[in-house]
Amino acid sequence: MKSGDPKNIAVYPGSFDPVTSGHIDIIQRAKPFFYSLHILVAENPSKSTLFSIDERVEMIKSATSAEKNIIVSSFSGLVVDYARKVNAKAIVRGLRAVSDFDYEFQMATMNRRLAPDIETIFFTTRGKFFYISSSMIKSIAQNGGDISSFVPESIEQKIINKFK
Ligand code: COA
Repeated sequence: MKSGDPKNIAVYPGSFDPVTSGHIDIIQRAKPFFYSLHILVAENPSKSTLFSIDERVEMIKSATSAEKNIIVSSFSGLVVDYARKVNAKAIVRGLRAVSDFDYEFQMATMNRRLAPDIETIFFTTRGKFFYISSSMIKSIAQNGGDISSFVPESIEQKIINKFK
């Protein structure tokens, strides 16, 4: 399927608490392969988040406002159910270190079991974002450190303000 085919749809799910420059890098690199990319802020009941679902959606929207055919939404069920709802053929995930592999492999395998017609596609994280995580960024911001090279400029102040 060509990237220009409107049926070529993918979903990039995550907690995005908050979205980081590493996530944005994955979005920018995945986007050319698809006609549209849904960024899905998924509820993960096992994670307590700093930002509400609406705040996380808004932060991604502001960080991706220059990108075409990016749809940002939230969902509280299974990722594969959302993917089916929007007719997505693929789930995009970013892989950082080897430590991500077990979890990602399990999740991709389970998602394939639940929805054999939807493929998970991995993008390896660019070296400079290899060690970034949302938790680390929150910890740096909470302690007054500089997060400017780890998060999109449009959301930096929002993160800092959260700890004021
Ligand atoms: N750059 C920077 N950080 C990255 C990154 C990248 N490219 N890729 C992942 N991360 C970090 C995130 O910042 C996050 O850090 P944190 O743990 O400090 O918050 C961590 O990696 C993992 O986050 P994320 O990619 O958002 O995954 P998750 O484990 O929070 O959520 C879901 C994964 C939402 C996709 C999963 O829980 C899910 O599918 N939920 C819906 C229910 C469902 O379908 N279940 C069946 C699945 S088998």
